[in-house]
Amino acid sequence: MRFDLVLFGGTGDLAWRKLMPALFQAFRHGTLPEGGRIIAVARDDLGHEQYRALIRERFDGVELAKRPTPDEFERFGALLHYLRMDLSQPPHYTRLAALLNERGADTVVMYLATAPSLFTSVCEQIAAVGLNGPQTRVVLEKPLGHDLQSHQAINDTLRRVLREEQVFRIDHYLGKPSVQNLFALRFGNALFEPLWRRETIANIQITIAEALGVEARGAFYDQTGALRDMVQNHALQLLCAIGMEPPINSSANAIRDEKLKVLQSLKPWSPDTIGQHVVRGQYAAGHGLPGYTQEKGVAPGSATETFMALRTEIGNWRWAGVPFYIRTGKRLAARDAHIVVNFRPVPHPIFRMPSGAANRLVIHLQPRDGLELHLLAQGAAQQRTEPALSPAQLNLDFDQRFGTERVGAYERLLLDVIAGRLNLFVRSDEQEEAWRWVEPILQHWKNDPAGPRPYAAGSWGPSAASAMIARDGFCWSEEM
Ligand code: BG6
Repeated sequence: MRFDLVLFGGTGDLAWRKLMPALFQAFRHGTLPEGGRIIAVARDDLGHEQYRALIRERFDGVELAKRPTPDEFERFGALLHYLRMDLSQPPHYTRLAALLNERGADTVVMYLATAPSLFTSVCEQIAAVGLNGPQTRVVLEKPLGHDLQSHQAINDTLRRVLREEQVFRIDHYLGKPSVQNLFALRFGNALFEPLWRRETIANIQITIAEALGVEARGAFYDQTGALRDMVQNHALQLLCAIGMEPPINSSANAIRDEKLKVLQSLKPWSPDTIGQHVVRGQYAAGHGLPGYTQEKGVAPGSATETFMALRTEIGNWRWAGVPFYIRTGKRLAARDAHIVVNFRPVPHPIFRMPSGAANRLVIHLQPRDGLELHLLAQGAAQQRTEPALSPAQLNLDFDQRFGTERVGAYERLLLDVIAGRLNLFVRSDEQEEAWRWVEPILQHWKNDPAGPRPYAAGSWGPSAASAMIARDGFCWSEEM
């Protein structure tokens, strides 16, 4: 299969950090279809050889095991081409069309690793030069819009020039092996299904904690914040994966239909519930680390949230009344993403056991990828005295079991785009529904003079997040 992959933003951060390393890994693993061209597009005045040299230099910064040997780069570099384009200039698209039409590849992937403000105009220009035919697939990075209205405007343009199945909306969390394991756990094993409901589950917690701050992305992040950057997309996709009904098959639309239903069933917000069930925070200096407003590119006195926690419910027969908590933030105590499924305690205890003890399934997403099933057991010490139980756990570490050389998120997603597999991409109605659900929070914050609560960099976020969950009689996983 001959493909052309056009990488708009070919000299940008995403191309350097994620896409080129992922394409190289696919090349090394022999999974990148042969006969492809990778055409990097950017404004810089470069030739093919100069661009190849830049990429080769970049690989020097990559960990040794993922760095190409000179021979490998020789062969991989031959796939790389460079086209200078000013994306605001229609005649430049004509040049692109000439380059692509001359070859007539079976599949043309347009990867928009550019500023989101360019998405609609680039798609319109692609269509204007006739490059929106059925062989074309367009990949869009998040964020797709800033709020519901701007998101709908982008979608309206996309619908005018492309068919839904040509649009690959990336949420790189769906490409993570750990997230695919979550689908495998739920829909490849019958064990948990009868327990996966309100009768047995007390609450579910989704945590995506980052130890890093905003790094070099202060200016972008200050316009974005945790709700738009992490919750509207990654966290809600995880919530869908954990809460959705089993799809009728593994086709993209069957999976997306079920995820959409979860988003449509989320409890709508009112000013009262936002006040009680949503906490926003911003990191202040702590543990020797600077505060958010001291970061480069961040406006002094900025009210952008770098942390948020919320409580919601999925209004359907399976989940009615079960709280789902989401929490994410930058500069937290650790890089740790996991989901905790807390089961209800036994209805009538006959043993002595630690107060509040109950079964718990922890799904580790990163940096560890594995499962922990917390049980209660009778240890040797207790057998000598009176019947009493203490916690014990079953562990499954996917890296140990399957090796760490599993396919990375971007590698997997790029191969899926080239092969036309939409399963791990987000459909427009899902994305729109997610924006619709977060919109009242965005509006509420706009008019709320209180602003985000400060938390010390390197901590677990503002104490209000613990108070919120404590009101339901629960606590976050690290407080257990
Ligand atoms: C991105 C966000 O989508 O995800 C970043 O824009 C965030 O702010 C990143 O750091 C986290 O991804 P990962 O794969 O490191 O958890």
